[in-house]
Amino acid sequence: MLHPEFKQRRDRFMSKIGNGTAIFRSAPLAVMHNDVEYNFRQDSDFFYLTGFNEADAVAVFAPWHEEHKFILFVQPKDRDKETWTGYRVGVDAAKEKYGADEAYPITELDEKLAQYVTKAERIYYHFGRDRAFNDRIIRLWQRSIALHERNGFGPTAIEDPSFTLHPMRLVKSEHELSEMRRAVEIAAEAHNLALELRKPGLYEYEIQAQMEHLFRLRGGQGIAYPSIVASGHNSCILHYTENDRQMQEGELLLIDAGCSYNYYNSDITRTFPVGEKFTEEQRILYELVLKAQLAAIEQVKLGNPWNQFHDAAVRVITEGLLELGLLQGDIEEIIKEEKYKAFFMHGTGHWLGLDVHDAGARKVGENWLNFQSGQVVTVEPGIYIRSDFQPLEGQPEVSDRWRGIGIRIEDDVLVTEAGNEILTAAVPKSVEAMER
Ligand code: GLY
Ligand code: MN
Ligand code: MN
Repeated sequence: MLHPEFKQRRDRFMSKIGNGTAIFRSAPLAVMHNDVEYNFRQDSDFFYLTGFNEADAVAVFAPWHEEHKFILFVQPKDRDKETWTGYRVGVDAAKEKYGADEAYPITELDEKLAQYVTKAERIYYHFGRDRAFNDRIIRLWQRSIALHERNGFGPTAIEDPSFTLHPMRLVKSEHELSEMRRAVEIAAEAHNLALELRKPGLYEYEIQAQMEHLFRLRGGQGIAYPSIVASGHNSCILHYTENDRQMQEGELLLIDAGCSYNYYNSDITRTFPVGEKFTEEQRILYELVLKAQLAAIEQVKLGNPWNQFHDAAVRVITEGLLELGLLQGDIEEIIKEEKYKAFFMHGTGHWLGLDVHDAGARKVGENWLNFQSGQVVTVEPGIYIRSDFQPLEGQPEVSDRWRGIGIRIEDDVLVTEAGNEILTAAVPKSVEAMER
């Protein structure tokens, strides 16, 4: 049974678009090689409103239409094709199981779509990766425009639905949070396993394999994004995914891995020694990143503007790097001129949900949005000093002892009425817990 929340979302969305018609295209199938495709994953907006998980589909929302407000165009049942490419929901079940007021085979799209568009005041459509489909929407609109002067009605504009839909996606319901908690729980188990398994001589992919094994074993769909299992100097490459190096005593291991569960994602990073203890330099930098992360998490609370948690992390890291002599100068100037970016070059976090970098604005005009309860954000400051680190002009040389160290600590944090809840708290991060 599809969760009743899908209908509630549609009703809310439709109350917002009023006399408009929204058209959503399913995600395209991505080619892996030759005629083999990657596992299909539905477009997150499409999924959020329908729960429908097939390719080559179109969802239409026409709240002003007297008979049909939610219409699905889907691949029809076809015994022969299903033998090769898997089960299809089909036209009838699109109505019964997914609650569409009307459903048609996708082959009838051009013929049937016009009736849901011609009397709308505007079209909501996101120009996506399917260029041929984009062209069909433009042609449909052009025909409506041509008729407008004669008929006196029809859509006069195309608007991206993101600005209507994504504010809804930003605030997670209890149902969504329960899916996210499960995605977190599985990934937390995998990170704790990695902590147990790590030892010099293992290959990065051995840890990766054990973690991803759990993602699927526990009923998740698999990885939320390509796992980063980065030892030694690889930890300084933000999106390192080769994971093919043998880990050595004395190095750090940075693992950024999350799982996908019923379309919702977790996103966790931990950094710890490959062997037993941090070196002095590793520990000093680890403690600094941890201090920055804790300061940032403090700022993730109801009513605080989005930028505040990043600013908190930047300040702690900059202060620390100044104390260590890795940066020099006036702290305000370093922050203003973003010189800390030589060490900490990414943002402190992003929304998390159906997309790992989830939909939703951070800023409107000049104003940062304030956190609301039910939002989930990652908090993930880091310090990265590559082996070939080059100081900015006017900044000190960095001695070899600091080089090749990359550290990031990432938690998933829910904004609550009372403050926040660290969803990923089951993965430890104290210095003592990282060592053994
Ligand atoms: N793993 C992707 C990110 O942390 O944003
Ligand atoms: Mn991450
Ligand atoms: Mn992240």
